[in-house]
Amino acid sequence: MSVSLASAPAAGFESKYLTFTPLNPHFGACAEGLDLTRPLTVEQRNELRAAMNHFAVLVFPGQQFTDETQAAFAEQFGTIEATPTLVDQERRRLPNMKINDISNLGADGEILAVDDRRRMFNLGNLLWHSDSSFKPTPAYWSMLHARVIPPSEGETEFIDTRVAWDHLPEKMQAEIRDLVTEHSLIFSRMQLGFEAFSPEEAARCKPVPQRLVRRHAESGRLALYLSAHIGRIQGQQTPEAMALIRDLTEFATQRAFVYQHRWTVKDLVIWDNRCTMHRGLRYDDKLYPRDLRRVTLEDIAPTLEQPV
Ligand code: OGA
Ligand code: MN
Repeated sequence: MSVSLASAPAAGFESKYLTFTPLNPHFGACAEGLDLTRPLTVEQRNELRAAMNHFAVLVFPGQQFTDETQAAFAEQFGTIEATPTLVDQERRRLPNMKINDISNLGADGEILAVDDRRRMFNLGNLLWHSDSSFKPTPAYWSMLHARVIPPSEGETEFIDTRVAWDHLPEKMQAEIRDLVTEHSLIFSRMQLGFEAFSPEEAARCKPVPQRLVRRHAESGRLALYLSAHIGRIQGQQTPEAMALIRDLTEFATQRAFVYQHRWTVKDLVIWDNRCTMHRGLRYDDKLYPRDLRRVTLEDIAPTLEQPV
């Protein structure tokens, strides 16, 4: 079916297999019409890719994924990131290493204790970030599927950082255009006062350089590459750098730019980490189980090796 919608991001976006309903005036759509648990044709895959490049965030309700079919779906679009967990890997709940466990549950299926290290660590998802920006080659798409959700709260918020870039004053654009930031998981966890990294963990978390402004190749648009994992800007004093990052993050995440996703079980949400940020919202994680599962695809190269 071919649709054209009045609202800005969907206007003129033609599609044969999917129907799009905009989520926000700036980006994002709810996409219906395909069963993603089955292999897609080349044409369907191309259409989904084009829609992702346009909308940056897509919500697909009612997808009946298992861990295996979710991973198989993802593999049609790229290479799945290696070993997702960082802390206490030996106590992993999910056997399938392609799945990132975005839950408040331990290996026994019970809610994590209040002072469990994994809980402290997972709370980092409450800060605005782009997935795996702390890896030399960071993430391309994340695909998050809801299995169990709490009765209220625990929403996930998104912004499109191409929109943020477009709205920045020219003077600021010129000032930050060529800056290089350094990202580490330790920097984001430090913001919440979590510092209990073992020497081995710290060694695995060496800061990696990324461009602050990158080109989203397929749409041709520039995007701010922001993330809570940023702890430095090369060539700047750290307090000065972090004050700038904080300003940019505030600007990028102003309410008018935010889409807040209220989860329904079986929703699949896909976001393009190259040009979005997201964060989880708090919920009563000591009382209610919340079980979401994420498959993450990796980008083609470190941002400094990609053309701008
Ligand atoms: C993620 C993430 C936030 C949430 O899965 O990458 O940051 O709301 N999730 O669970
Ligand atoms: Mn995330």
